[in-house]
Amino acid sequence: MSRIELLSPTIANQIAAGEVVERPASVVKELVENALDAGATKVRIEVSHGGLSRIVVTDDGAGMDETDARMCFERHATSKLSHFEDLQRLSTFGFRGEALPSIASVAKVKLVTRLRGASEGVEVTIFGGMTPIVAPAGAAEGTSITIDDLFYNVPARRKFAKSQGAEAAQVGEVVLLAALSRPDVSFTLVRDQRLAREYLRSSGRKDRVASVFDEPLELNVGERNNMRFEAYLSAPERARSGATALYFFVNGRPVRDRSLARAVAQAYGSVLEPGRYPLGAVYLELPPEFVDINVHPQKAEVRFAQGRSVADALSRELNHSLGKVFSLPAFGGNTSDRFQTKLQEPSSYAVLHEGDERSHVSPAIAMLAEPAQLRFSNERNAPDLDFPKSEMGSSLDSPHGSPQKQTPRRVGFYANLRFVGQVRAMFLVCEGEDGVYILDQHAAAERVTFHRLKTSYGARTVATQQLLIPEVVTVSTHEASLIDELHDSILQMGLDVTRMGDTGVAVRAVPKVLERVPPERLVRDLLAEVDYAAKRPFSDAVDLVLATMACHGSIRAGDIVHPDEVTALLLSLDQVDFAGHCPHGRPVVTRMAFDELERKVGR
Ligand SMILES: Nc1ncnc2c1ncn2[C@@H]1O[C@H](COP(=O)(O)OP(=O)(O)OP(=O)(O)O)[C@@H](O)[C@H]1O
Ligand SMILES: [Mg+2]
Repeated sequence: MSRIELLSPTIANQIAAGEVVERPASVVKELVENALDAGATKVRIEVSHGGLSRIVVTDDGAGMDETDARMCFERHATSKLSHFEDLQRLSTFGFRGEALPSIASVAKVKLVTRLRGASEGVEVTIFGGMTPIVAPAGAAEGTSITIDDLFYNVPARRKFAKSQGAEAAQVGEVVLLAALSRPDVSFTLVRDQRLAREYLRSSGRKDRVASVFDEPLELNVGERNNMRFEAYLSAPERARSGATALYFFVNGRPVRDRSLARAVAQAYGSVLEPGRYPLGAVYLELPPEFVDINVHPQKAEVRFAQGRSVADALSRELNHSLGKVFSLPAFGGNTSDRFQTKLQEPSSYAVLHEGDERSHVSPAIAMLAEPAQLRFSNERNAPDLDFPKSEMGSSLDSPHGSPQKQTPRRVGFYANLRFVGQVRAMFLVCEGEDGVYILDQHAAAERVTFHRLKTSYGARTVATQQLLIPEVVTVSTHEASLIDELHDSILQMGLDVTRMGDTGVAVRAVPKVLERVPPERLVRDLLAEVDYAAKRPFSDAVDLVLATMACHGSIRAGDIVHPDEVTALLLSLDQVDFAGHCPHGRPVVTRMAFDELERKVGR
């Protein structure tokens, strides 16, 4: 006897709904996208109890006639796509014909719509995916869809819903994304009968971004090969931990993408600690054949044909423009045209490995794992510190391309500097025998911490600090198993983390130099870097992890530094190889020679 049967359409839709309709916010997303696809200029979103009891989305778009209003609840019924190849040239958000039937299979739905120019409208009600009931109705042109009692027939799903507040916040995010993607449309969000947010039609992205973030953000535009981008980003001091307020749009579509977020953060260089991201919106435009939009059930992710080169190009271009906008520390020369030149060049390591597999490997790896590779592709990129060779010894030679030697530089060079003062809570100004030396305080401190971690790691002598009470950190199942797998190697770094259940890890000890960094942060850094290093062996990720940890364990830009700390830092810098660079590749120090200063003031 054969046992295979076709699923009934209702069950098929409910299964599809499991992917498409995860929570109230995903319903709102689908409905708002439909409204936009219908050419709406005004979209109103109302939610009650976080959307669990009611969602209403009303638009002034094209509307539907009776046949379409009935058809739209059929699975795979769409007006947006008729050939598979169209998927590449799509100008609409929708293309699958899945959203409405999925929603209707797990909620009570009422659709009221009137086709533009038609004399009357139509009302369709459909409960739990059963046969729709259709009746004529008085209605304004456009469409209004009401979704009641979401998941009323899927109790397991309802249980998964978070608090109403959390769901409402997610709905807010969806509306915010829509608003950022379509500045030409007005959006109104009403929560439990109260106006929660209103984005009035604006003249363009700049204005919309300003209203979404309640402040204007700096605009950076750029173009590289086939890619164009428009980025509105906050100053580094407004950065937050996690990329939660950094939004990406690829060809108009909101997407989540870790590598793009990292690319943006990387463009800020060492002023931004790893794990911190600016606020803002980045719009990327690239030829459709480079983007696959059909890879995620909620269309929240896209795949790039050349993902890494997109991220790299973004990083480079942004690095160039951000430097100017926020006057990020751009060392490497002492005249103003030099400053410009430096900014227009991508950070040295990116050039170093252009087109190379390891193009996004941190400079820490580039510098330490394979010192022989350390070559600057053009002279302008070389950090022209112009130190007297006799004083600096050979270790600074490497960046200029000469063979690396481990011979220590003349002891006491940094120790002999006289600390004059701190500027912008960012730079340490010192007087040397032959000129003024300006240190990037964060880069310098980070360099020292990194060096200590790295040498003790190498010697297997990382001093650890046991935690009185182990700190438990919640992670994903994937991350928990990563920790499990790498336990021994991680332990060698001085971090004692063990898996606890499916989604937890316990931190029992941390490296002594990092005892002031919250253990959770160390775990997140570790995971982020290990994940980023992806399929490469763990040993390759070590420097990356150490560099990130060092970064968190060090004085930051914005910290007020006590002169005693500066003295200690200067002394320590003398112990460090490659003291001219922080582990993230930025030069630590720049010099202005006295004779040049004198020339400048006309002596
Ligand atoms: N607000 C609306 N105004 C006018 N037509 C609409 C509206 N919402 C849906 N439709 C019509 O109903 C069809 C089905 O909508 P549905 O969201 O299920 O699928 P889709 O948008 O085509 O694809 P996807 O599943 O990817 O969203 C659409 O193709 C469109 O023709
Ligand atoms: Mg749709």
